[in-house]
Amino acid sequence: MSQAKRLAGEKAIEFVEDGMIVGVGTGSTVAFFIDALAALKHRIAGAVSSSEQSTQRLRSHGIEVIELNNSGPLPLYVDGADECDRQKRLVKGGGAALTREKIIAQASAKFVCIVDPSKQVDVLGRFPLPVEVIPMARSLVAREIVAQTGGQPVWREGVITDNGNWVLDIHGLAITDPVAMETALNQIPGVVSVGLFARRPADVVIVGGESITIF
Ligand code: A5P
Repeated sequence: MSQAKRLAGEKAIEFVEDGMIVGVGTGSTVAFFIDALAALKHRIAGAVSSSEQSTQRLRSHGIEVIELNNSGPLPLYVDGADECDRQKRLVKGGGAALTREKIIAQASAKFVCIVDPSKQVDVLGRFPLPVEVIPMARSLVAREIVAQTGGQPVWREGVITDNGNWVLDIHGLAITDPVAMETALNQIPGVVSVGLFARRPADVVIVGGESITIF
């Protein structure tokens, strides 16, 4: 599996152009992308990072990390996913970085998603859907989730996001209308963000493996 992740991460380098500020996601697949990006570090203007974890890795390679507030719109965002369907809609947040990932995806002209074949699904929801919540709203949001979706929210105890919040993972979903579910869950007071990337899906998906698929 890590070979497939490496191949996907290295393939995404083909989308990097000279002078770019590159948006960089989080996770083990992105780690391969960051390692490959290091070879181009003198040709790019820097990176905007979606997590403390990726920031550390970027800096360890001597890649400048730039604040999104100072970068302006980004031409390219490269990130992994926990699930991906044929319409390039994603479930993300297994690494608890969903909110910053969502912000950078929205700020980017092109979102290239890098996955191994195990992430491909027909219907999203087999992977528990992460939702970042303000801590005091955890129980309220969980009750609303049950009422709205019929899924089972489970508190990811002990995990605090880079934004100081908590994560609920919703089990037992079959997400047949991802845009509607993302929109509805976003309306619950106390929800910071939902790990569904359907309103702003990926633009390109690279599936690593013996033969690399791009769609
Ligand atoms: C981080 O919060 C997630 O959205 C990651 O993008 C996702 O978990 C992919 O991780 P791997 O590349 O480690 O499988």
